[in-house]
Amino acid sequence: MKRTTPRRLRLFAGIVAPLAAVGGFGMALLATPAAHAATTLASAAEGQGRYFGTAYATAHASDSTYASIAGSQFDMITPENEMKWDTVEASHGSFNYGPGDQVVSFAQSHNQRVRGHNLVWHSQLPGWVSSLPTNQVQAAMESHITAEVTHYKGKIYAWDVVNEPFDDSGNLRQDVFYQAMGTGYIADALRTARAADPDAKLYLNDYNIEGSGAKADAMYSLVSSLKSQGVPIDGVGFETHLAIQYGFPTGMQANLQRFANLGLDVAITELDVRMQLPEDSAKDATQSTYYTNVINACLSVSRCVGWTVWGVSDNYSWVPNTFNGEGAALLYNSSEQPKPVYTTVLNALSANPPSSPPPSSAPPSSPPPTSAPPSSAPPTSQPPVAGCSATYSVVNQWPGGFQVTVTVQNGSTARNSWTVTWTFPDGQTISQLWNGTYTQSGSTVTAHNASYNGSLAANASTTFGFLGTSTGSNGAPTSLTCQ
Ligand code: XIL
Repeated sequence: MKRTTPRRLRLFAGIVAPLAAVGGFGMALLATPAAHAATTLASAAEGQGRYFGTAYATAHASDSTYASIAGSQFDMITPENEMKWDTVEASHGSFNYGPGDQVVSFAQSHNQRVRGHNLVWHSQLPGWVSSLPTNQVQAAMESHITAEVTHYKGKIYAWDVVNEPFDDSGNLRQDVFYQAMGTGYIADALRTARAADPDAKLYLNDYNIEGSGAKADAMYSLVSSLKSQGVPIDGVGFETHLAIQYGFPTGMQANLQRFANLGLDVAITELDVRMQLPEDSAKDATQSTYYTNVINACLSVSRCVGWTVWGVSDNYSWVPNTFNGEGAALLYNSSEQPKPVYTTVLNALSANPPSSPPPSSAPPSSPPPTSAPPSSAPPTSQPPVAGCSATYSVVNQWPGGFQVTVTVQNGSTARNSWTVTWTFPDGQTISQLWNGTYTQSGSTVTAHNASYNGSLAANASTTFGFLGTSTGSNGAPTSLTCQ
């Protein structure tokens, strides 16, 4: 993801020497506090096997502070408006990908992934679509999806295929698509998107579905039905535009979990927590609790893949323009300085390593008998080869589990895909892998690129990561190859 040398590893490197002097006891200390010290939202989320993204708007690209925060704190980018229908196809059959391309290029230059937002939505929809004769709407929708998804094929981690299909009561909106095709427009949109880019994850995305309620139930029943019909759907996006005066959504974790139990990814896609202005310390405290709850709800659901905040800083947030008298909803203030809630979120993201034992049993009182601490074990590399090489680094480790970052270093020829294989010596098992796909057969693992990170220029590199489980030893892999 963002960096080829995890900051955590460098931290270890700096800390291990003095601790090593006190003997083996130092090794046990290493796995906890230093392991979770993260300096960006992205690295903290990556430590949990997840991403932390932001909405990004080209309108502010020339603001260097904005660009620097967007480029460094996050590892996922959602174009705030640049991929919506009214930008991409303002007139029938005439496509403008300039703004969206600008977002993709920003993301790629910062080693970030992109959530495509969005393909079909009743809002920000040009008038020509609503004016079409009913029997032409399906063709227009399908060609819009096919054109846009094809244009961005291989560059998008996940698409919000249909955005906000439900009204506030949990009924499907009676928009132009529904009127032309009935409920079936959703399945048709998903199938059309899958045909255009089989590797992008396909989502439905909506607001006010975070906690229990009629609208969440409506989304649950829709996606259950789509899954049972074999319609391609990979995830549900929970926008999570919260306001402290309305209370925190009831049962958010359980609600996310029931969607995950359908075999879907879930994601927090547009997080902000607004308040009635003026801001004060009591409101800030409530807001911090809301943010913490959202981080923890996702951390508790293994298929919750990450969070995206809907903007970097309060000065550019959509909130004041949309909700009269409200604002202060984001992690950076209007002067683009991190607010206390930024630190709250960073700490919440850093709190508990995935698959780790409960805090009462950590850290272990003595070093694990057989495994070396990650910091003292040098990364395992295969010798340089003409094609590509892989470096395997244990970046975090705790009793029963570990996290690895693998760096794929391309050779002197540009490539479109890569495959890394290795053998685990100690019966380790991968439980979750990101920025790639994998199969594990016995002790042999084969990892391929994801759709968006297979293309590497000459001498370029990328990384993927995974969480593993181990029993006792966690030896370095043997036969590490890249091709
Ligand atoms: C908002 C943008 O932030 C604004 O700039 C724009 O004027 C309107 O749309 N749900 C969504 C987002 O799915 O696309 C919306 O973004 C916010 C609500």
